[in-house]
Amino acid sequence: MATTTRRLEGKVAVITGAASGIGECTAKLFAEHGAKIVIADIQDQPGQAVCEAIGSSNSIYVHCDVTNEDDVKNAVDLAVSTYGKLDIMFCNAGIMGPGKERIMDNEKIDFERVLSVNITGVFLGMKHAARVMVPARAGTILSTSSISSGIGGVTPHAYTCAKHAVVGLTKNLAVELGQFGIRVNCMSPYGIATPQATGFLGLDVKAVENKMNTLANLKGVTCETDDVAKAALFLVSDEAKYISGQNLFIDGGFSIFNSSWNMFQHPQN
Ligand SMILES: NC(=O)c1ccc[n+]([C@@H]2O[C@H](COP(=O)([O-])OP(=O)(O)OC[C@H]3O[C@@H](n4cnc5c(N)ncnc54)[C@H](O)[C@@H]3O)[C@@H](O)[C@H]2O)c1
Repeated sequence: MATTTRRLEGKVAVITGAASGIGECTAKLFAEHGAKIVIADIQDQPGQAVCEAIGSSNSIYVHCDVTNEDDVKNAVDLAVSTYGKLDIMFCNAGIMGPGKERIMDNEKIDFERVLSVNITGVFLGMKHAARVMVPARAGTILSTSSISSGIGGVTPHAYTCAKHAVVGLTKNLAVELGQFGIRVNCMSPYGIATPQATGFLGLDVKAVENKMNTLANLKGVTCETDDVAKAALFLVSDEAKYISGQNLFIDGGFSIFNSSWNMFQHPQN
């Protein structure tokens, strides 16, 4: 890729949950655009494989459980000690939790585990990113929320709850860190056939994509990890230099559409 089109030349990023799915795809795209990446995950072998694919001069893997503050602190410190600074924190790690629909069937321990990874993990990533970004008066923080941040009923209670909370934390932190020139945003993707979704639904990649396409508002295309990675690239790049406190839905209009009242449902020529 020509240097002029590399949009993250000289930038340093930490990406949590980068051993798989959206995080892996984003790590590869950021690296293609010139960034150095710390791959932070609990899946060591797949995480190391992502590093090998990117190249060892541009990336480093660190075992990091986002629910463990020492691990998160260590991942951020590794970025600074290895590459000299931290420009981009992408708090992406997340889990779905058990697929129990009724609240009465949900155990407190499972509820707290989902919140621990999906919101406390984001909080810790933001906290330790801020620790090094505030003195530098620069940086950008991005998190992965979900369409469940905007609508109810599409994912389990704990997941929906945590993804709403990511938006709240994003807004609060965007206000706190604005004075330091630090932007804070999140993204809300539609269902994508990553291991999280295939595992949760018990379907293979093709079947998940077919299911999501059937339910989708936008027809003729499939939502893929690449779509989220490209949105992430925009949000962390200088092209988004005045965008902060936002939750960008990458859902083809799914979350603003109520199929029970659709005046456009008849096929048009
Ligand atoms: N796939 C979807 O349909 C979808 C839609 C909207 C939002 N999301 C969100 O996107 C993010 C990425 O998920 P994905 O779909 O790529 O799934 P994925 O399962 O492919 O990737 C998630 C990664 O997070 C890691 N992880 C899990 N717990 C962790 C922990 N405690 N510490 C560090 N890493 C941990 C996993 O090892 C894995 O590599 C998640 O926050 C998820 O909730 C996914």
